[in-house]
Amino acid sequence: MMPTDFQIVELGDPRLRELAKPVHAEQMAYAQEVAEAMAYWMKERGGVGIAAPQIGVSLQMMIIASRPNNRYPDAPEMEPMLMLNPEPKTFSDRLVSLWEGCLSVPGVRGKVTRPDAVGVEYMDQSGQSRLIELKGFPARIFLHEYDHLIGKTFVDRVASVQDLVTDKVYFEQILST
Ligand code: NI
Repeated sequence: MMPTDFQIVELGDPRLRELAKPVHAEQMAYAQEVAEAMAYWMKERGGVGIAAPQIGVSLQMMIIASRPNNRYPDAPEMEPMLMLNPEPKTFSDRLVSLWEGCLSVPGVRGKVTRPDAVGVEYMDQSGQSRLIELKGFPARIFLHEYDHLIGKTFVDRVASVQDLVTDKVYFEQILST
């Protein structure tokens, strides 16, 4: 399959509401094709993360790919990390509110409060089980993408609809202040 055989799924599509299924060992060849399509679309749309349900695949897969950006100039530049069957295990008590966007919710931003750090158990593409502690922007990306695996998007996480704004307002009125 080609990456463009998959398409970005947007808010309102029921596929974004499903609970994604675990990736099994015998699916690894297909999972690799899905991962390639996820990487393609993430790059094509300039995202810092993507989850399989966002290209219409109900599997527990995500890529996180932090890089410095105008909201987080100190964000680490990391090699895109593919995580299969990720499970958040521990959360920091410290919470942080940040504006998020999503490839599946074009043109809208939302202010979301989440833990600043998360400990994650996941499987890498060789089938190896791994543990990682994510802090700051990578933790934020992980928690956003994990929501996609449990049928949620950032619009479910805002405290109030007042915390939803358009890109235009975000870039012209919020980011500049
Ligand atoms: Ni998203």
